[in-house]
Amino acid sequence: MQVKEAIELRRAVKHYDPTHQMTEQEVEQLMSLALLSPTAFNIQNWRFVLVRDPELRKQVRAVSWDQAQVTDASLLVVLTADLNSWNQDPARYWKNAPQPVQDFLVPAIDQYYRGHAQVQRDEAMRSCGMAAMTLMLAAKEMGYDSCPMDGFDFDAVGKLINLPDDHVVAMFVAIGKGTKEAYPRGGQLPMDDVVITNTFN
Ligand SMILES: Cc1cc2nc3c(=O)[nH]c(=O)nc-3n(C[C@H](O)[C@H](O)[C@H](O)COP(=O)(O)O)c2cc1C
Repeated sequence: MQVKEAIELRRAVKHYDPTHQMTEQEVEQLMSLALLSPTAFNIQNWRFVLVRDPELRKQVRAVSWDQAQVTDASLLVVLTADLNSWNQDPARYWKNAPQPVQDFLVPAIDQYYRGHAQVQRDEAMRSCGMAAMTLMLAAKEMGYDSCPMDGFDFDAVGKLINLPDDHVVAMFVAIGKGTKEAYPRGGQLPMDDVVITNTFN
């Protein structure tokens, strides 16, 4: 499947076959593609929680407006991020780079993030958003549907997955065999409304 086709065919699908199981190889393939998503300074701050315990899925659904995707999709990925990944042996993010690149980038990571809580959080959301899209497009190519989600109680989900204090939850991506097509597209804005050339006025 071409990327263009995957982008055009991906829709937020709400109904899934609850009996379908993905193989371990498929899960591995999806996650290994997600791990190629870009992150600023390559800090790879996402932490993907695969909620595989059916009982835990039910509990997550109960704090997610009872949305059926949460339990019925084959895979529920809770995209979280470690707000402190910039400070955890950052040399490992550039271990394969030439020495001059390492010498420049590793201290730059510290300068960019230290003391900047808003930047740490913004980067967490950016990284998870990118990874979510990677997951959804890869899923489409593999014959699966998906649904991005933030309709849930973030604190309650954090408690259910034992989220560490220095991590944040960004969103879910539910992935599985869709049983009903997505609703018709809600209505796309005209390009002129959303594409600005150079400056706003
Ligand atoms: C960050 C985010 C959160 C969303 N949360 C939910 C959700 O909780 N439940 C749901 O059914 N759809 C959710 N959606 C799906 C959107 O409603 C859907 O993407 C949008 O209507 C456009 O439709 P499309 O993805 O099929 O093109 C979410 C989408 C995004 C990007």
